[in-house]
Amino acid sequence: SLETVRDVAALRERVAAWHGRGERVALVPTMGALHDGHLSLVRAARSRAERVVVTLFVNPKQFNSRSDLDAYPRTEEEDRAKLAPLDVDLLYAPGAEEIYPPGFATTVSVSGVSEGLCGAYRPGHFDGVATVVAKLFLQSQTDIAVFGEKDFQQLHVIRRMARDLDIPIEIVGCPTIREPDGLALSSRNVRLSAREREVAPRLAAALHRAARRIADGEDPGPVIADERSQLANAGFREVEYFELRAADDLAPLQRADRPGQLLAAVWLGETRLIDNVPVPAA
Ligand code: PAJ
Repeated sequence: SLETVRDVAALRERVAAWHGRGERVALVPTMGALHDGHLSLVRAARSRAERVVVTLFVNPKQFNSRSDLDAYPRTEEEDRAKLAPLDVDLLYAPGAEEIYPPGFATTVSVSGVSEGLCGAYRPGHFDGVATVVAKLFLQSQTDIAVFGEKDFQQLHVIRRMARDLDIPIEIVGCPTIREPDGLALSSRNVRLSAREREVAPRLAAALHRAARRIADGEDPGPVIADERSQLANAGFREVEYFELRAADDLAPLQRADRPGQLLAAVWLGETRLIDNVPVPAA
């Protein structure tokens, strides 16, 4: 069965032993409630390293409200069962005091790529992400870390943070895993009612349709305005953002003159959904 450690000393001891044998180690950070999106990251890690460490920590510093944190699913036993067939070497599931001991006072804050998009609607969120991911990198000292493009802005924040702080870990991004109807897998999807679950795939559909229209040469501004109003009509309570950005540095794009990414965040009832798709240069 899957070995679990809950403290940094035990984690470092395992990783050091593997490094002593010349083995590469890959890290897959998660907040648990694992689904096939997470498991695809584990497989990608497996294909790039001899050893795979999955982390499970619901990071309070990246939540914007107590109610969202409290409602976040915690399913360690099910998570362990999902990882069992995947040849994971270690699960690191620290308690809060192992990450944020009494007196903890440091924040890792990345400017630029963390501004706008989710950063505009979730104040402090990316500080919380950058801080915990920096800690997981420095605690584990792995060679590679794997993240999903589902959280596209997060991936950019983490790449910037690792580069700026000279953390010698290769960051690997993996494609978004979707339900057959296009809905991006998310741990929060379990909160959708049956009716909301029927509406939800329209977000991915709107992004894909807008990407095709822009790649075919339509002006991004009117395409985005059109898709936003269609989402509102489909039953989404609020469209926080629906924006075209450059794929490599998230700079706002007025025209598809370089590879882009369309990113959106919407509210469906009490659930916030995010998604993004690539836009080839027109
Ligand atoms: P969590 O939401 O659990 O996601 C863990 C990893 O799974 C992230 O890299 C995320 O991008 C990826 N992921 C989620 N849904 C996916 C999907 N449908 N397809 C592919 N990958 C997907 O993201 C976090 O946790 C946290 O912010 C974390 C990085 C662990 C820091 O606390």
